[in-house]
Parts: sequence; structure tokens; C-alpha cells
Amino acid sequence: MKTVVNSWNEWDPLRHVIVGRADGCCIPPPEPASDPKIPLDSDMRGVHGPRSQETVDRANEQLDAFAAMLEKRGIRVDRPDPIDFNRAIATPDWSHGSMFGCQPPRDVLLTVGSEMLEATMSYRSRWFEYLCYRPLLKRFWDEDPNMRHEAAPKPRLTDASYKPDYLSDDITVEERLEMVAAKDFVTTEAEPLFDAADVLRFGRDLFVQHGFTTNLTGIEWLRRHFPDHRVHALNFPGDPYPIHIDASFTPLRPGLVLNNPERRLPDEQREVFNRNGWEIVDAARPAHNSPPPLCYSSVWLSMNVLVLDPKTVCVEASEVHQMDQIDRLGLEVVPVPFRDAYAFGGGLHCATADVRREGDCEDYFPAG
Ligand code: ALA
Repeated sequence: MKTVVNSWNEWDPLRHVIVGRADGCCIPPPEPASDPKIPLDSDMRGVHGPRSQETVDRANEQLDAFAAMLEKRGIRVDRPDPIDFNRAIATPDWSHGSMFGCQPPRDVLLTVGSEMLEATMSYRSRWFEYLCYRPLLKRFWDEDPNMRHEAAPKPRLTDASYKPDYLSDDITVEERLEMVAAKDFVTTEAEPLFDAADVLRFGRDLFVQHGFTTNLTGIEWLRRHFPDHRVHALNFPGDPYPIHIDASFTPLRPGLVLNNPERRLPDEQREVFNRNGWEIVDAARPAHNSPPPLCYSSVWLSMNVLVLDPKTVCVEASEVHQMDQIDRLGLEVVPVPFRDAYAFGGGLHCATADVRREGDCEDYFPAG
């Protein structure tokens, strides 16, 4: 299939996608950005180092099967090139014990039209993750004369980028919820910071979660970088650890979004959807009471689905309630066993990055 980089939204028919790999994935040592996201009662507290080969193999089996299923449906799949994540890294400003991995390409790469943009990232352990995608991006650049390969300014990630008082273990979940509701997050505004997984593409409109991994300066950077888009900042105040938008807000097709019922979009931020006839429905409850072992994400990966086209959605195969809801909304559900890959960086949306979807840039919010 000829290489054409072109994707404007989360739902048009998918033609070409990157699927991550679990090889060599590590749990990095603590750092200022990651500490506050690990709940006090999490089994990840105090744990770091390479993940066991057995869990890597199980995750890779599911990632490979997911990739094979997409290919069978005629979608081209490319995979990143893992590097040695279990080694110390340094910049002139800091050093860190290890890197992370390359399961969630969604966190690193943002495709808007013919542009693939490397996000700044916001964790020191993920500073070099873009290297895993450079061979692919160079290939796309060579093969598609219209492809634009961009990289947002690499952040310095000195201590000035994080609030020191945010690290305290004395802060309870209730207090964190109050802090999050007041938009008091771990990152400062010292420099632009964003992870690509905080951005959802709705044609001319980009909706970006302001939280732990994306600051307002990062959203302003995106606004200036995409001058033909409207860039909206969103908040999901019920999430004590607001990291990445795709277990909180999930568009399924034009006019229809699932919203995590524990993380409802505030009324004033709903207005743009209401004015333009979009329906925001509560997502179904997750099928599980807890995430799998050593997992960064919450049970709400249930709503981290990959839309193949406006009528077809890949949902994790054990998420019976989410599958049932999407079925009742009139879309075809493709069940994908994926729970063994969750700990490596998330669900089916996280594990992919768009290269090509059919369709052009449309205005789905004509009333502004
Ligand atoms: N941070 C998101 C969640 O775990 C992915 O819900």
C-alpha cells in the first residue's frame, strides 16, 4: 500500500496505523512527573526495573494478534523499533535510571493531516522515546512527498517544570481531587509540555486535556503550531490522576462521544458540543474492579477503544459492558483480547497511532 500520511480525526476509515511493541519495557525509577500519578495503594509503589520476560511475551502476543487482525481487514500496520530501555539516560540538566518502552505510540505521535508531530513528552524517562519511531517517520517522509515530520521543542524538564509540594504522600485522594478541580497539577508552566495522548482530533477542532502531562503552555504551543485549527482545553475534574484524555472522552463518530461518568466534562466545556448538536453519553461501567498488576492506568481503559470507521469499533474482549453499550449505539464491535498488554502503556487507542484515515479536514463545530 502506497504511503500517504493523512488523518484528521479519530473515526474516519482507518487505512494505516502504527501498533506498539512490548519488547524491553521497563518500569522506570520514580521521577517528579510520575510520583504523583502512582496511587498510594498501588502495587507499583517502590517497584522499578525491566518487566519480566513472561509478561513481555504475553503482551507481545496480544499486540501481534491485534496487528494481524487489522492487517486482515486491509489496514497497513507498521511497528516501532525498540531501543535498549534499561539503561541510564542524561541531558545536561538531569540523569535518570532508565527509559520506559514503546507500547503506546499514541503518547508520542500526533498526526494532523499530513503532519506527524513528536510531542514534547513530560516525563524524563520518556524523553528519548521518539527514537523508536524515527526509522518509520523517515520512511514515511521518503515515501510520501507531502508528509511533514515535525518535532515540538524538547523540554528541559528541570525541577522548575514540576511542583515540589505535589510529591507528598500525605496528600489524600480527596485532596488530590480538590487540587485537580482547581486545575492545580504537578507540572508548572515553565515550558511547553504535552503528551500526544492528551489530544483528540475532531477535524478543524483539537480537544486537549489540561492535566498532569499537558500544561497550558503546551496547549498554547499547539494553538500557535496549528493556526488553522481551533484548539480547546478540556478538564475532567473527577480524575485524581489526569494523564491522557483517552480513558475519559472517546468520540465514536461525528456527533457522538462517550464520557467517563466519574470524570464528567464541566458544563461550560460542554457548551461547544451542545451548540453543535453533539451528544455526550456516559460510558458503560468497566467490567473489572481493578486494573491488571503493575498497570499505570485505571479500569477505565474499558473506554480506550480504537474506531476503525464510523460504524466499527475495536473494544477489549473482556469489557462486556462497553461492548454491549457500543453495540446498542448501533456500531459493530470487534472484540480484541488485550488485557495482558494494558500494563505496558494502556489500551487499544493508546497502543496505536494513526498514519492514514480516509477523508479530509471537516468542520464538525460550524456554530463555533
Ligand atoms: N490515565 C488514563 C486512565 O488510566 C489512561 O484512566
